[in-house]
Amino acid sequence: MATPRIVFIGAGHMAGSLIGGMIKQGMDSAFIGACDHNPPKLEQLQSHYGIQVYSDSLSALNSADVIVLAVKPQVMQALCETLKQDGDVSGKLFISVAAGITCSHLKKWLGDVPIVRCMPNLPAKVGLGVSGLYASVDTNAELRKIAEQTLECVGAVIWVEKEEGINHIIAAAGSAPAYFFLFMDAIQQYAQSLGFSEKDARNIVTQTALGSATLAMSDPGTTLAQMCQNVAVKGGTTAEAVRVFNQADIHTTVKKAMQAAIERSQQLEDQL
Ligand SMILES: NC(=O)c1ccc[n+]([C@@H]2O[C@H](COP(=O)([O-])OP(=O)(O)OC[C@H]3O[C@@H](n4cnc5c(N)ncnc54)[C@H](OP(=O)(O)O)[C@@H]3O)[C@@H](O)[C@H]2O)c1
Repeated sequence: MATPRIVFIGAGHMAGSLIGGMIKQGMDSAFIGACDHNPPKLEQLQSHYGIQVYSDSLSALNSADVIVLAVKPQVMQALCETLKQDGDVSGKLFISVAAGITCSHLKKWLGDVPIVRCMPNLPAKVGLGVSGLYASVDTNAELRKIAEQTLECVGAVIWVEKEEGINHIIAAAGSAPAYFFLFMDAIQQYAQSLGFSEKDARNIVTQTALGSATLAMSDPGTTLAQMCQNVAVKGGTTAEAVRVFNQADIHTTVKKAMQAAIERSQQLEDQL
């Protein structure tokens, strides 16, 4: 395929992050479009990035080789059925970023078209996301590559072989920013109670999180457990803190939390 024309239907937060990332990576804005029924959102994207904009989904469909479905899950069925009934969906790749909507739902509403399901996470907004990708079996290597390159514009990409792997990605990456924020908030709150200002406490915790993640990424040969041990030298202060975390069995708590996220993802899929 020559350079594919990629159009986002739904020009909200996720579409804005992906389009911003694509432009930043040097993609030609002439090959990117967005459709939404809120004119201000389209005007903003057009003025920021110079992309094509569409106020109706059928014009967007007609002008695209690749359609990124970036609306909320609850309106996905109506959108897909409109595209199928009133437009020509054949020969196009559909990429869905919606949580809880499986390929079989999408094929029921859109017909037998190639589909890639993606689950990006919030740090995609700053180009540091992790996206899980799953492709329906009829999606060929060229189309998979297009989906991969689109999501790579906002961070790392991990393919899953089975569709249930998308729910595992939700537990490990989609929901995980909240786990880190929770932990960081706990540190910040206690640091404030020790007398640090709110600003200083927040700087302490965010800089430490950034520094720790950067350090971990710079040394992939050392396990995270070993990195923890390296800081928690026997008899030292960190070892005492880590002992308290281990007494509370943090690994089991995290496992239970991730299992709860997976169960909820499955429930959301079953509700449709
Ligand atoms: N935000 C995240 O971090 C994140 C992470 C992973 C996955 N996702 C997924 O990404 C999808 C979009 O999320 P979001 O946070 O970007 O939502 P959002 O900000 O609400 O954006 C969706 C946009 O689509 C518009 N829209 C709805 N129906 C439409 C239609 N038929 N034609 C054209 N535009 C339509 C909405 O307009 P109205 O508001 O007027 O209806 C809204 O402007 C969701 O399925 C979500 O599960 C989001």
